[in-house]
Amino acid sequence: MPPATDRFGRRLHDLRISVTDRCNFRCPYCMPAEIYGDRYPFLAKPELLSFEEIDRLARLFVELGVEKIRITGGEPLLRHNLPSLIAVLATIPGLRDLTLTTNGYLLAKQARPLAEAGLRRITVSLDSHDEQVFRRMSGRDFGPARVLEGIEAAAAAGLAPIKLNCVVQRGVNDHTFVELARSFKGSGHIVRFIEFMDVGTLNGWDLSQVVSAAEIVERIGAELPLEPVDPNYAGEVARRYRYADGEGEIGVISSVSQPFCGGCTRARLTIEGKLVTCLFAAGGVDLRTPLRDGVSDDALREQIARVWSRRADRYSEERAALTDATGHVAPRDKIEMYQVGG
Ligand code: GTP
Ligand code: 5AD
Ligand code: SF4
Ligand code: SF4
Repeated sequence: MPPATDRFGRRLHDLRISVTDRCNFRCPYCMPAEIYGDRYPFLAKPELLSFEEIDRLARLFVELGVEKIRITGGEPLLRHNLPSLIAVLATIPGLRDLTLTTNGYLLAKQARPLAEAGLRRITVSLDSHDEQVFRRMSGRDFGPARVLEGIEAAAAAGLAPIKLNCVVQRGVNDHTFVELARSFKGSGHIVRFIEFMDVGTLNGWDLSQVVSAAEIVERIGAELPLEPVDPNYAGEVARRYRYADGEGEIGVISSVSQPFCGGCTRARLTIEGKLVTCLFAAGGVDLRTPLRDGVSDDALREQIARVWSRRADRYSEERAALTDATGHVAPRDKIEMYQVGG
């Protein structure tokens, strides 16, 4: 089957699969604790795709051109028995890259079983390693120690290269990101600094809280000289910079100041089985109903290809036109970040 392409000629190349809508953190920019309290009605088990259902869909996506799968959440390590899902996905013929994004809190115990099951590398969110800033940004009453242990365990299990995601928010952690870069310089891990985005509808985003990738590179570079590096592959989300002294590299993800929709080849599958074609989409197309109604692989594959062929999403490129002079963006319906896992 020829690879699926959308209305702008973008291939279907990456699939991000959410395996749970739950999370053990309450990052205010994603799941504010005031809204997601103890009684919040997360999805019940029968509503979640089973591992067999995820595996079946993943194989169809790979037949349509997907070469890279990233497991996300919520927090994916909360999904019971995750290594057994990794083990089946790792055997899909044609899949070149299988990775996972986690907040790292449960990673110290799970790094080895995940690696043994066939996970190849890992990305860990780490917005700051300052105790107070970490507490504020994770929405929980603990510091970064367990996450740092998780990162070490992942390195020991061979899940390399390890990438660390730091969302930079002005007034919250913009006084700690240079130190974060410094502390991982020479470690072999790649810290990626992400511009704070208006994902979902709950994080009170406005432009004044965004620190641009240019400013991030300038502020790190002023203390730790940097030089730009070519992308690893076309359409890479992060722009790469290496330390001039040869001690590794960082990345910046400039989805606000320099959107990259033109090369966006990412589809997202929610845990309820919805196919979402943009991080900022209002919703997705239900694949769970036909799946559970017993339709054939051919029919499901055709449906996925049809959705992708109609795709015209380019929200980050449209954002500037939706943002007013005070930096506020016009409200619109959007799926929440924890439902699509970034
Ligand atoms: P590699 O596979 O290591 O190259 O990384 P990746 O780009 O798949 O990394 P990751 O999933 O960790 O992405 C980092 C962050 O970039 C995400 O968590 C999002 O915040 C943001 N991001 C990723 N994909 C998109 C996208 O399609 N659109 C926008 N606007 N942001 C994205
Ligand atoms: N802006 C930028 N990045 C975000 N993430 C979550 N919410 C936002 C946001 N509003 C990041 C997380 C994690 C990844 C899944 O997405 O920090 O690294
Ligand atoms: Fe959880 Fe990740 Fe959302 Fe933070 S950003 S609340 S760790 S899903
Ligand atoms: Fe892709 Fe949508 Fe992000 Fe643009 S805004 S890069 S189309 S996910």
